[in-house]
Amino acid sequence: MKFFVDTADTKEISELNALGLLDGVTTNPSLILKSGRDIMEVTKEICDIVEGPVSAEVAATDYEQMMREADVLSKIADNICIKVPLTFDGLKACKALTGDGRMVNVTLCFSANQALLAAKAGATFISPFVGRIDDTGEDGMELIAEIRTIYDNYDFGTEILTASVRTVNHVKQAALIGSDVATVPPAILRQLVKHPLTDKGLDAFLADWAKTGQNIA
Ligand code: G3P
Repeated sequence: MKFFVDTADTKEISELNALGLLDGVTTNPSLILKSGRDIMEVTKEICDIVEGPVSAEVAATDYEQMMREADVLSKIADNICIKVPLTFDGLKACKALTGDGRMVNVTLCFSANQALLAAKAGATFISPFVGRIDDTGEDGMELIAEIRTIYDNYDFGTEILTASVRTVNHVKQAALIGSDVATVPPAILRQLVKHPLTDKGLDAFLADWAKTGQNIA
């Protein structure tokens, strides 16, 4: 499963990229707001840090304006992936943009039928929002499993990009189900390495090693 980081914070992106953990980045209007930076400037900087796809979201709701915005965003870098909302205008833009060889991430997916439409529109990625589904009392991971089944039934090439990840368990479940990608907030990505028995075991090994009086290098 590929790891994307869900942030527009370039310091976080640089640090995680240096660990060799990043396959891409996703941003959205809320994350751009949080960064306090100009969308073009910050997105360019992100594209220079990470080799993989960097999702940049259009702000328009009608097809024509989405296409104009997609043209502007596409010029930022070769690894830009245009993010469009799951509406008929968004799907129409998805079809046109992927037909033109561009990567498209269809976002704000909350149902299996929406994901089916996105695949039929040729989406590169579909972004089901698991955390926001959990917030309603439903199980977001069930949607990932449904989409996996549907995409496998018809050999759709669209990659499932599990989004709105809030817990390390979301990451594990996404991997178990066979999500192609998970976009994960930096704090959750860092939590993945943690286990109290790892810390305890390392402390014990270091203490015993010190008692041997040896050096390896
Ligand atoms: O990038 C889209 C998605 O990951 C948003 O997550 O936490 O705002 O529901 P969240």
